[in-house]
Amino acid sequence: MSEGKPLVGVDIGATSIKVVQLKETRKGLSLFRMGYCALEPQTIVDRHVMNSQAVVDGLRRAFADAKIKQREVALSVSGQSVISRKITVPIMTTAELDEQIQWEAENHIPFDIKDVNVDYEVLRRRADAGQMDLLLVAAKRDEINDYVQIAKQAKLKPMVVDIDAFTIQNLFEYNRGLAPDQTFAIINVGATQASINVVSRGASAFTRDITNGGNFFTEQIVKQVGVPFEQAEDMKIQASQPQSAGVLPPKVFQVIDSACDTLAGEIQRSLDFFLATSGEERISRIFLTGGTANLPQLVNAIERRSPVPAEVMQPLERIPIEKEIDQQALAPRASQLSVALGLAMRKSKEKRA
Ligand SMILES: Nc1ncnc2c1ncn2[C@@H]1O[C@H](COP(=O)(O)OP(=O)(O)OP(=O)(O)O)[C@@H](O)[C@H]1O
Ligand SMILES: [Mg+2]
Repeated sequence: MSEGKPLVGVDIGATSIKVVQLKETRKGLSLFRMGYCALEPQTIVDRHVMNSQAVVDGLRRAFADAKIKQREVALSVSGQSVISRKITVPIMTTAELDEQIQWEAENHIPFDIKDVNVDYEVLRRRADAGQMDLLLVAAKRDEINDYVQIAKQAKLKPMVVDIDAFTIQNLFEYNRGLAPDQTFAIINVGATQASINVVSRGASAFTRDITNGGNFFTEQIVKQVGVPFEQAEDMKIQASQPQSAGVLPPKVFQVIDSACDTLAGEIQRSLDFFLATSGEERISRIFLTGGTANLPQLVNAIERRSPVPAEVMQPLERIPIEKEIDQQALAPRASQLSVALGLAMRKSKEKRA
């Protein structure tokens, strides 16, 4: 189905750059190299790169620290610059569809079509109805170009640009498979956004980004406990560990519980919207990933809000770790690696299935 060697997965997030290189072995993929570089606040704001030199430097450092020689990379974009919609069109050939898709996008995508790259995936062919369901995806060209240019300045060769939600779905599929009879949600909670992807019948059926994440939790601790940002960040991380109850002021836990509850409420509203508009009856499970998924309080808040079991996704469930990797550095970061891991599964010469 696909050939070529895996690309280096490069995830440029709001608070850090994550890079991952996988190795193909006879038994499957294994984790060969991993690099991480924190970014100063304000380097990236609302997905826009404000300080491109800082990102270029961060990429160089992450590659050098991880000793990654390969330059061909897969990048991803997300947030407000990406929109996906499930649409239905009459059954047609791939050639016809390639021609038609731009026109369909004009009807379904609220961006100016001149400014976007459009792609699609065939979800289902319904021969009896003479129709097929597509997932239409549009990403703003400017935003993609910014990231591509930055990667090039860091002497990298971007070969693929994917979307956060789909890379994580790819990773999930590798680890667990996508049960055709189940509808479930995968939610990536980073520092500035929570991206929801509902997977149904083995394909993405709904995506939505919520502007809420770990940074807002930390800011609430700053405001309500009265400590500087860095200290608030440390307190939050400590609060995610067992046995932290006696060590931290009780107020920290109250603030985190309340922030988790707000986010859980926003997530639930999005899932309710999906259920109300899709005709699907239920979501069977919620999987969380991203740095903020490390807070057990968030899993609990989501389970309190919705009658659906929630759990933290294990990104490395079926990916063994090579001896080159520092396991102690990896363990607390594993949840932050999902996007980079999914990207690292992309190949240089991929064909659409
Ligand atoms: N153990 C932990 N407990 C609580 N929060 C944590 C923990 N580890 C990381 N985080 C939080 O996770 C966030 C970073 O996660 P991640 O790397 O997924 O985000 P990002 O990709 O930089 O941001 P975004 O996806 O919004 O662009 C930060 O807000 C950080 O405070
Ligand atoms: Mg992220």
